[in-house]
Amino acid sequence: MHTPSYLEIIKKYIPPESPTYPLYMMHVTLVTARALRIARKLELSPQQITFIEEAAMLHDIGISGVDCADLSTHGGPYITHGVLGAQILQKEGLPQHARVAESHTGVGIYRDEILSENLPLPHRDFAPQTLEERIISYADLFYSKHPQKMFHEKTLDEVRAWVAKFGSRHAATLEQWIHEFEDQSFFRPIRSELATTEREDIAIAKPANAGLSTHPNKG
Ligand SMILES: [Fe+2]
Repeated sequence: MHTPSYLEIIKKYIPPESPTYPLYMMHVTLVTARALRIARKLELSPQQITFIEEAAMLHDIGISGVDCADLSTHGGPYITHGVLGAQILQKEGLPQHARVAESHTGVGIYRDEILSENLPLPHRDFAPQTLEERIISYADLFYSKHPQKMFHEKTLDEVRAWVAKFGSRHAATLEQWIHEFEDQSFFRPIRSELATTEREDIAIAKPANAGLSTHPNKG
């Protein structure tokens, strides 16, 4: 049985002849490259690195069904692109990749924020939990989807200024991630923690037909 690559999945939802396709590919390639640089600095396993490549390339697939002027797409509210992407990736038999899609917006969105701000999202938490999810969300913060700003890699201070607009909880999460991913001396403790911790928050069975990797800690 043919198992699709991430490129085939992208082309299925974003036709290569559409104006969205080259812009989508540019954005996710930049995010993936930054996420992979972090993964290699952290000395993650080959399985983790493969998962990060796949999930980062697919993290914005839900953009195909929302309004996004930068990428010339139309549909529901922009903020729902993570949830929609997760539905797509679930349908493709990739539940771990789906978790990345639904949790990657900003530094994560929590149920109380969805309720207090009346956001058009299901009433539950959407926040990165695993190291791989955090790395991809963090890398995504550095890139705009605006066609004229796509290749501008934001500085840490630019990312800080943008995230701070959403409140102190968001700013504090970002500082944790900066410490986790930019402080060289912190890399090894993360790795050893990974090697010894059995995480139950991603207890997802290996999909029978998945051509892409399952989560490295479970696959
Ligand atoms: Fe993105």
